[in-house]
Order: sequence, then C-alpha cells, then structure tokens
Amino acid sequence: MKKVMITKAGGVDVLDVQDFPAPSPQRNEVVITTKACGINFADILARQGLYPDAPQLPTCVGYEFSGIVTQVGPSVDPSWKDKAVFGLTRFNGYADTICVPVDQIFEKPDSLTFEQAAAIPVNYLTAWQLLVVMGALTADDSVLIHNVGGGVGLAALEIAKHIGATTYGTASPGKHRFLVEKGLDHAIDYRSANWEDELKALTNGLGVELITDPIGGNHWRKSYRALRATGRLGMFGISAASDSSWQGKVKLLKTAVQMPFFHPVNLMNTNKAVFGVNMGRLWHENEKIRQWMMHIIDGVNEGWINPHVDCSFTFDQAAAAHQYIEDRKNKGKVVLTP
Ligand SMILES: NC(=O)c1ccc[n+]([C@@H]2O[C@H](COP(=O)([O-])OP(=O)(O)OC[C@H]3O[C@@H](n4cnc5c(N)ncnc54)[C@H](OP(=O)(O)O)[C@@H]3O)[C@@H](O)[C@H]2O)c1
Repeated sequence: MKKVMITKAGGVDVLDVQDFPAPSPQRNEVVITTKACGINFADILARQGLYPDAPQLPTCVGYEFSGIVTQVGPSVDPSWKDKAVFGLTRFNGYADTICVPVDQIFEKPDSLTFEQAAAIPVNYLTAWQLLVVMGALTADDSVLIHNVGGGVGLAALEIAKHIGATTYGTASPGKHRFLVEKGLDHAIDYRSANWEDELKALTNGLGVELITDPIGGNHWRKSYRALRATGRLGMFGISAASDSSWQGKVKLLKTAVQMPFFHPVNLMNTNKAVFGVNMGRLWHENEKIRQWMMHIIDGVNEGWINPHVDCSFTFDQAAAAHQYIEDRKNKGKVVLTP
C-alpha cells in the first residue's frame, strides 16, 4: 500500500510517497481502498512542524477519506463489504488503504462523488459544532465567518444560509465573486483593508451575534471586539502561525503570546461568550459525532449541503496540493486521489 509521508518538518518537498505493508482488520475494524483523501489546514501546519497535535515525524497525516470497504474484521456486519463509504481516521489518511473502527465510517450518499464525500467529515463537522452545537445560530442572528472561502468556511456558509442567518465573511478578494454566488450576503476583504471598520459600517456599529475565527493570536481579540451584545466567539485555529521557513516557530510563539485572556467580569458586563472547538480532541465522543453527521447527511439528501471541491491532486502531486493551499488559491476543499 502507498502513503504520502511527511518525512521531516519543512517545505512542501518533504512530502514523499512510500510503500508499506497492507493492514488487516482487527475486531470492529474495516479496511477501505480509498478513492479520495481530504487535505486540511492542520496537515499543512503538521508538515511545517507547527501543529501540536500531530504525531512525531516522520508520519502520515490526514483525517478523512472516501472509498470502498474491501475487508471487514471479526464482529463487523459483513454487509459493509463492497459499500461506498466515507469517514474519519486519526491520522494515516493520505493513504490508498486505510484501516479504521467501523463506527468511524458512513455510507456515501449516491448523489456525492468520492471527492465530495472526502470533503465532508472535518469541514462539515467542525462547521456544525461551531454554528449549531456551540454557536447556537438562529435565523434572527448575523454571523461573521473568517476565511469563508476555505473548506470549513464554505461549509459554515451553507449551514448558516440553511439556518437563515445574515452572513458576513472575510476572504482574499479574488474569491469574493464566487462567494457571493454561493450566497454570502457580505464579502469583506481582510487582506488589504481593516475588516473591523467594514463590519462596523455594515452593521450600524452593532457587530454580529456569532464569529468563527481560525486565525488565532491577536485576531481573537479583534473578533471579540466585533461581537454584538449576546455575541459568541468560536475559536478553532491558528492559521496566523503558518510558515514553512524557520520563521514558523517565531510566528507560532507570537501567536501564542498575543492570545487574549477573557475575564469573567468582562464577559458578564459585555454580555458575550467565548468557546473553543478542536475536532481532533473528540475521538471519545463518537456518539455525538455520528449524530451531527446524520444531520449533515440529511442536508446532502435535502440538497442544502453540496461540498465544493476546488481540485484534486494525485499522491505524486501532494507537494503541489499543499502549495496550492498555502498560496491561498483554494476555494473550498482540495483532495488527494491515490
Ligand atoms: N479546531 C478544529 O477542529 C479545526 C477543524 C478544521 C479546521 N480548523 C482550522 O480552520 C482553519 C481553516 O481550515 P481549512 O481546512 O478550512 O482551510 P483551507 O480550506 O485549507 O483554507 C485555507 C485558507 O485559509 C486562508 N488563510 C488564512 N490565513 C492563512 C495563512 N496564513 N496561510 C494560508 N492561508 C491562510 C486562505 O484563504 P483566504 O486568504 O481567502 O482567507 C486559504 O485559502 C485552519 O486554521 C484550520 O487549522 C480547525
């Protein structure tokens, strides 16, 4: 079997396709021959040596996949065999063969391509937790989705539109037309202008009820300021630290040092709430994850969830795939195909 390995911390050239013995399924496990493997920004940070939750290098990252079940282990319902599925894996996702517990896979809806199915787990579960579970977004609310053009961002946009909330989003300006076509009410350029000023102007100085922020560091302070009374800030990433050179470690330190502290008295007196999301730390809550996924699959079947795959790269082109994301070119998901 083949895996795309991160051989050491560094630029995109450290990615290498290597051969490994094929896994065989143990109790409650299934083996899947993959058709597509999702790339997440956490994988980029892991390759740069900046992702605290990544396994020791060299390693194979990747949290999600789609494919066909080729083997079932003891005690697994044999009807899973030959089914088209998608699911979650705790690393080792950039692989043509994956072995996972059966409760981490889901039947692929027929309406989705394999590439689209591989684009669902991390992006949509994260967005669901941010907007629905912890963000409690309602139709009367407005939401600011930072990096709305990325994988989690577009998933969040679809969910927010379905709820009926007013949507604001920050993205590189080249993505604005596409995002408005996808239903974003207000696209904000955060690269060359001050998004706080623009949001203030757009909301008559009030701010919004929910902000999803994966940038981290000082940016969380700004987002907190931009909340309206009763507003909630969901923090879920540290994109600000991303850098493939030696400066990455410096940026990571700067991001950590600049993180705000939220005083309870200030939270009370401003009527605001803050919360954090880390999907990589929810492996012990599989029942919740499966429940959320059922809502997401309903969304696919009802037509209001339609994962946007920007492009796919072969395993041999993994370096180009990572570079594409680091260059901020992606709209929605980028996947690898074996
Ligand atoms: N906590 C969790 O459970 C969880 C789960 C999933 C993702 N995340 C986090 O959410 C964020 C987005 O993840 P994703 O997988 O949706 O990302 P993605 O699809 O790979 O999108 C990357 C986009 O982020 C924007 N960006 C912002 N700062 C950047 C930087 N320094 N370098 C390169 N791109 C930057 C760029 O778009 P624009 O320039 O257009 O904004 C870029 O196109 C990441 O921080 C990720 O770690 C967290």
